[in-house]
Amino acid sequence: MSIVIENLKEALNGESIAKRKYEMYAQKAKEENHPEIAHLFKAVSFAESIHIKNHLRALSVIQGSEIKLNDIVSVNEAELKQKVKDTALNLQDAIDGEIYETKKMYKQFEKNASSKGQDVAELSFSLARDAEKVHAELFSKYLKTLKKEKKIKKQKIYVCQICGNVEFNEPPEICPVCDHSKEFYKEINFD
Ligand SMILES: [Fe+2]
Ligand SMILES: [Fe+2]
Repeated sequence: MSIVIENLKEALNGESIAKRKYEMYAQKAKEENHPEIAHLFKAVSFAESIHIKNHLRALSVIQGSEIKLNDIVSVNEAELKQKVKDTALNLQDAIDGEIYETKKMYKQFEKNASSKGQDVAELSFSLARDAEKVHAELFSKYLKTLKKEKKIKKQKIYVCQICGNVEFNEPPEICPVCDHSKEFYKEINFD
């Protein structure tokens, strides 16, 4: 199997786990009375679904037929449930995962795709890598505030539906990660 196909499958698996795990972390944050942190987990979970969409498109282009997520990924719910700890530890776990993806995984995958001339995959990895960096920063910000026992401000959160970038308060005119306009940003409900 080509290295790029292998990388796309690994990325799809990682993103699927992150997406589901963040939903669980959001639920836990709600139970612990941190609805603002639940809101961020919900937003980032949605952002990971954008990466899944982009990677699937890249895989379909390479393989020349439409690939469905269920054909390649199955998330082990029971295993994930065991990963749910308290919200501070969940945030730390999320930060570690995002940093690994940014600094190691996607960096290497991007190089591999570039060396094989697989432009669509390269772009998909590159957008995900830049967005994961933002995710790590936002989770870190919330964890710092939580550790100081300060109240996290409730704010509007928007996600770019092209690249999975996350922004507070209002969407930027031009997305700093993918250069698309603010119409592509979706507001994530606070619940
Ligand atoms: Fe992420
Ligand atoms: Fe974007």
